[in-house]
Amino acid sequence: MRKPFIAANWKMNKTIIETAEFINAFLPMVNDVMDVDILIAPPFTALSEASRLLKSSNVMLGAQNVYYEEKGAFTGEISPGMLLSAGCSCVIIGHSERREYFSETDEIVNKKIKTARNNNLEVILCIGESLEQREADKTFEVLGGQLAGSLKDLPLDAITIAYEPIWAIGTGKTATKEQANETHEYIRGWLRKNKDGADNVRIQYGGSVKPDNIEALMSESEVDGALVGGASLKPDSFAGIVKGAAKNN
Ligand code: PGA
Repeated sequence: MRKPFIAANWKMNKTIIETAEFINAFLPMVNDVMDVDILIAPPFTALSEASRLLKSSNVMLGAQNVYYEEKGAFTGEISPGMLLSAGCSCVIIGHSERREYFSETDEIVNKKIKTARNNNLEVILCIGESLEQREADKTFEVLGGQLAGSLKDLPLDAITIAYEPIWAIGTGKTATKEQANETHEYIRGWLRKNKDGADNVRIQYGGSVKPDNIEALMSESEVDGALVGGASLKPDSFAGIVKGAAKNN
């Protein structure tokens, strides 16, 4: 049985003060939820403050990105060691916005996962197809390629996969629960064929997840959680998603 895992990806939103306001409102709403793993990924600048406020809570802290070198002359980049020292236990890698706007390839994603895992950070690896690729019936081919490239020479320990169809991110269009499950089944099949321990890997769905569609998504056997953008920015909305995931456990 895989424990549901709900993660908030705040993207480039929230100052330090706004982060503190969110956490102070959110923690009492979910402090009795024990059957769901909960993670918040604020921007880098708010990590230390978030870590302080989340200490001894049931909410984990993650970052939205990391660089693949340990240290050195890489102006503007953030290393795994820095994330650990800021209190993170997890990092999101390969989000479609990083791939699209910052030219991250599967090779770069692979290097980032390796460095993150060498430093004992858990990883949420994002994959997903564009609308054009789905309509051309290329979804599985694209996902298989992303998995092969991103997970090259890597075991599956402490890795969560987030399936995020690009056409569903921030658009209000959610994949149907059947579409999500079918695609997760493909991902699970790929993992089983190519790696050990595939049955323990949690596969999150991401793309316009909200309090009113989480229960349906979680009712599918292969949907183990969600990576949530827009609807994670308000405490009551994100708490609603966490609780919706708990009910189906
Ligand atoms: P969304 O974003 O929930 O706003 O669609 C999801 C994501 O990009 O992780």
